[in-house]
Amino acid sequence: MYSLIFRTLLTRFDAETAHHLSFTGLRALDRVPGLRRLSRAVMSRGTSDPVNVLGLRFPNRLGMAAGFDKNAIGIRALTQMGFGHVEIGTVTAHGQPGNPRPRLFRLLGHHAVLNRMGFNNDGAAAARLKLLRAREDIAKLPAQQRPVIGVNIGKTKVVEAADAAEDYRQSAAQLAPLADYLVINVSSPNTPGLRNLQSAEALEPIITAVRDAAGAVEAPRSRLGHVPLLIKIAPDLADEDVLAVADLALRTGVDGLITTNTTIDRSVLSGADQAFAESEAGGISGEPLAERAFEVLRLVRSHVGDQLTIIAVGGIADARDAAARLGAGADLVQVYSGLIYGGPMWPGRMLRTLRRKP
Ligand SMILES: Cc1cc2nc3c(=O)[nH]c(=O)nc-3n(C[C@H](O)[C@H](O)[C@H](O)COP(=O)(O)O)c2cc1C
Repeated sequence: MYSLIFRTLLTRFDAETAHHLSFTGLRALDRVPGLRRLSRAVMSRGTSDPVNVLGLRFPNRLGMAAGFDKNAIGIRALTQMGFGHVEIGTVTAHGQPGNPRPRLFRLLGHHAVLNRMGFNNDGAAAARLKLLRAREDIAKLPAQQRPVIGVNIGKTKVVEAADAAEDYRQSAAQLAPLADYLVINVSSPNTPGLRNLQSAEALEPIITAVRDAAGAVEAPRSRLGHVPLLIKIAPDLADEDVLAVADLALRTGVDGLITTNTTIDRSVLSGADQAFAESEAGGISGEPLAERAFEVLRLVRSHVGDQLTIIAVGGIADARDAAARLGAGADLVQVYSGLIYGGPMWPGRMLRTLRRKP
């Protein structure tokens, strides 16, 4: 049914408009109590499979990856589809428009997406207000359905790299009190120079600044006694650079890594999609990313043992993929592009299949 709607209706709109339409529809369903209960019953039945990670109780191991709800406007609405956690953002200290449209494209032949959104978001102060509201909304759900909320922060585009740590600190100071966990995003390809912040030299002051700001939170929700902190890394790092970030995380007391963000590698595509992507800037997500994202997960897990939490994301297309990542040592998994191709029933289906696996 969804694939029919996708082919005949959603692909008539450009990808960003289709995103807004779908998200608006989902939020509308969530606002009407009767419809909310019905849509939840249909989409997320049988998805409860609680797990403790990062000192937090997750309703299940599947989350909505960052980038879908950049401004924290639809957290409860997203959980109708069964997600156990929602990572909002990327939020930057200052609001910014992102890149000019069009900036989001479907690569239909590969079940992939190309985006160069450029951290379009309303800024940390606005996100804080939306998160306060989201916390009230979520409190109305039965306890076992309440999602974990991750807050993913990034650098404001106009801020110089030399001032990055202060920029991240400002976001963390506003948002850490409302976050179950925090993510330092240094891996988006769409903010010039951002990925250079993955070097140990640039990353350490950012970690220190964010940790200090988050350390001021008096009542962290995590049983770890602090707001857990993760770093989201790019799949395009060389293996030794991935390991250098993992070592830095261990040395600085970071709690985990998110592997991975989108790739700038066009060789993961072929044919018309590859030709198109070669002429357009942006990061590729979806199925072509799966192999490298999985490789980075294995690399990090074999290097750090059980000392870090790992959230695996990138190209997960079905329950088998998700189970494979969990089997390879991921504590949680996230998805984005698969939802575009799979539709609103897809997360719940995947979770029910995962639950049936031994
Ligand atoms: C349209 C779009 C916007 C995204 N925006 C962000 C973002 O703001 N911050 C971030 O950390 N990741 C962002 N991502 C990356 C996703 O969170 C995820 O890491 C990536 O898409 C790989 O997962 P997937 O193959 O399941 O899509 C974005 C992805 C897409 C498709």
